[in-house]
Amino acid sequence: MLELTETFKALGDPTRLRILRLVGEARLNVSEVVSLVGVAQSSVSHHLTKLKALELIREERQGGFTYYSLMVDEKAPLWPLIRLAKDAPDEHGDLARLTELLQRREDALTLNEKLLEPGQSWRLWASALASLLPPLDVVDFGCGTGVLTVELARWARHVTAIDHNPAALDKARAEAGRLGLRNITFLEADLKALPLESGAQDLVVLSQSLHHVGASDRVLAEGARLLRPGGRMVVLELMPHDEQWVRSRLGHQHLGFEPAALQNAMRAAGLETPTLVAAPRDAASPFKAFLLTGTRPLAPALPPPAPLRPSPLAPRAP
Ligand SMILES: C[S@@+](CC[C@H](N)C(=O)[O-])C[C@H]1O[C@@H](n2cnc3c(N)ncnc32)[C@H](O)[C@@H]1O
Repeated sequence: MLELTETFKALGDPTRLRILRLVGEARLNVSEVVSLVGVAQSSVSHHLTKLKALELIREERQGGFTYYSLMVDEKAPLWPLIRLAKDAPDEHGDLARLTELLQRREDALTLNEKLLEPGQSWRLWASALASLLPPLDVVDFGCGTGVLTVELARWARHVTAIDHNPAALDKARAEAGRLGLRNITFLEADLKALPLESGAQDLVVLSQSLHHVGASDRVLAEGARLLRPGGRMVVLELMPHDEQWVRSRLGHQHLGFEPAALQNAMRAAGLETPTLVAAPRDAASPFKAFLLTGTRPLAPALPPPAPLRPSPLAPRAP
């Protein structure tokens, strides 16, 4: 009975009832409640403490804030009282302000994702992670207009950018010049037979260039030949697809690749442990990309020494 009297007494305050109704609609922190009921923070804190002591609301910590929500549900004996508070006329327009507040919360979340989440900072992350790499000698197979080349050149010791299309190379050269990148050598050549020394490169990248060449195994073999022992090849390719138009309009020779088939081709080119990283499908594109990385094996270890035998020339024990 005493508890009931206390509860009735506590709910006899109109501001407290308004607060109870608001936290019954949404989980709110103190500043939010203050902005909704328009009374001083000290007064709101006092009301919240009272409602918590009566076990009408609960308190939870999240992200440095304390949030309050209704603790009583429809099965509780006090529910009819809460129902009355919920259904009372909204003379102060609390519920309309609450709707606005919840909308602002939602907008802030969406905006935050748009502006600040990794999707907006991939380039920074890529540069930060690349700065951890040792200085590498890189070859960009089929560099096109050099979009990837210039990114590689930001952290590589040297990039050899190869393409057989002189117009694309001119554009790539111009972009590198504009960015002041001086560690790129542009080479007009056929990826199937390159005028480059064997075993002198740390990394060969093929970004969507393999599907342009009929004899893709020859290209992979050339890439493997250029690598130092322990050097890596990274291939970005498309999954098999049915977009026939890319043959005539873009000059594709392959409608994508089965990753397992390309893994086998990399092994056949002498690369070890080709490892697959699949990308999620971009709903707006009919193409799905994947990455394969492979390593040129280190020089084979020397065979273990044969067990020692007594030399025929060794002096015999007397
Ligand atoms: C789709 S583009 C890729 C551009 C760049 N790698 C990228 O990811 O942005 C393919 C490029 O490969 C080049 N290419 C195709 N076959 C080639 C070959 N046999 N030798 C040299 N370059 C070739 C094309 O000229 C084209 O610029």
